[in-house]
Amino acid sequence: TGICTFDPGFGSTASCESSITYIDGNKGVLLYRGYPIEELAAEGDMLDSTFLLLHGELPSRAEKRVFGREIKMHTLVHEQLIQFYRGFRHDAHPMAIMCGVVGALAAFYPEVANTRDPAQQLRACYRLIAKMPTLAAMAYKTSIGQPIIYPRNDLSYAENFLHMMFAVPCERYEVDPELAKALEIIFILHLDHEQNASTSTVRTAGSSQANPFACVASGIAALWGPAHGGANEAVLKMLQEIQDLGGVESIPEIIRRAKDKTDSFRLMGFGHRVYKTYDPRAKLMRQVTYRVLEKMGIKDPLLDIAMELEKIALQDEYFVKRSLYPNVDFYSGIVLRALGIPVEMYTVLFAMARTVGWVAQWKEMVSEPVNRITRPRQIYTGHLRRKYVADVDRT
Ligand code: CMC
Repeated sequence: TGICTFDPGFGSTASCESSITYIDGNKGVLLYRGYPIEELAAEGDMLDSTFLLLHGELPSRAEKRVFGREIKMHTLVHEQLIQFYRGFRHDAHPMAIMCGVVGALAAFYPEVANTRDPAQQLRACYRLIAKMPTLAAMAYKTSIGQPIIYPRNDLSYAENFLHMMFAVPCERYEVDPELAKALEIIFILHLDHEQNASTSTVRTAGSSQANPFACVASGIAALWGPAHGGANEAVLKMLQEIQDLGGVESIPEIIRRAKDKTDSFRLMGFGHRVYKTYDPRAKLMRQVTYRVLEKMGIKDPLLDIAMELEKIALQDEYFVKRSLYPNVDFYSGIVLRALGIPVEMYTVLFAMARTVGWVAQWKEMVSEPVNRITRPRQIYTGHLRRKYVADVDRT
C-alpha cells in the first residue's frame, strides 16, 4: 500500500531520530553527544565516553565512581555459559563464537525481552558492556587451549581486557599502563558511529521488542563482514599479502586490482559511505600507531607498506574522483598487532567497543514513547498472479 521510495543500501534514508552521534562526512567531523572524538580520546577514558553515550552527559567524579562500580559488578559471566565454549571446534573464528555466546546470554536474562522498565533496560546495557570483554577474552583463551582468566575489577577496562587475554595461571603478568591507555583510545574511537549496518541491525531487531542480548548478537553478525568491522582483519591480511608478494613494489598491482571493475577485490580500509574526506578516526588511529610502535621499539614493515599504499592511492585519479580515503580500519590492525592481539580478534575488539554504541542506541530507541517496528518495503520484480500448474503438466 502507498508509494515507496527505492533507496538501496539506505544511502539517503534516515531510519530514526537520535541525539547520540553526529557525523559531518564532508568535513570529517565526529561528535559523541556534541563532544569531538579528538578531545574524548585525548583527555577522557572509556568510562567517561561510555557514560556520555548512555546518559547524554559527561559524568561528575562521583557519578563516574558509582558508574564504574555498577559496570564492574557485572564482569563475571554465569559459569554455565563457559560450557558453551567447549562445544566449538578448537579453530572456530572468535566472531562465530561471539555470535553464539552473546545470543545465548538472552537465555540467562529472559526477563528483559519487551520490558518497559527503565531500570531493567539499563541493567541489560551495563551487563552487556561489562561482559563483552570477558566473553571476548574467553574466546581467545579457548582458541589457544589456555585456561580462562577471570576479570579483575581493580583494573581499568583496557587493563582488565589485556589481563584476561595475556595473563596465565602461575605467572606474573604486569599490564603496561601506557599500552592499556593506547588500547583505550582505540576503543573510544570505535564506540559509536550512528546508523551503520550493525547498529541499524541492533535497532531493527530491537524494534520487534526482542531480548537486547539477542539484538546485540545480531549486531555482532552484521559487524563481522569485511565491508564493515571485518575490514580491520582484512586490511592486515592484505598488507601481509603485499609483503609476501615482495613489499612496496607490489603496491601498484594491488591498486590496479582495486580499480579493475571485473575484479571483486577492493582496497580494504579505504572508502566510507558517509566520509568523503579523511575519516577522523583514521587520523587518530595513525597517531596512536606511531606512538605505540615507537614506545615498543617495533619497526613493522607492514606500517611502511600501509603508508606507501595510502600515499599512492591518495594520488590516484580513481580514488580522488570517488573521494576514497583511509577509514578507521586502515591503521587499527597494525597497532593491534604491535599490542600482541591476534588478527582473528581484531573484529572482536571492534564488537566489544561498539557494544557501548549498540546498547546506547537500543536504550534510546526503547525509551521512546512509541516504538514502531522496522519494516521496509521492496520493489517487487517477480511475476504477477499466475495460475497454478499441476506437476504432471509442468514442462
Ligand atoms: N576500493 C576500490 N574501490 C572502491 C572502494 C575500495 N575500497 N570503496 C569504494 N569503491 C568504489 C566503488 O567500486 C564505487 O565505484 P563506481 O562508482 O565506479 O561503481 C565507488 O567507489 C562507490 O562505492 P560504493 O560501494 O557505492 O560505496 P558504499 O558507500 O556503498 O561502500 C564501503 C562503502 C565502506 C563498503 C566501501 O568503500 C568498501 O567496500 N570499502 C572497503 C571495505 C572497508 O574498508 N570497510 C570498512 C568501512 S569503515 C568501518 C566500518 O564501517 O566498520
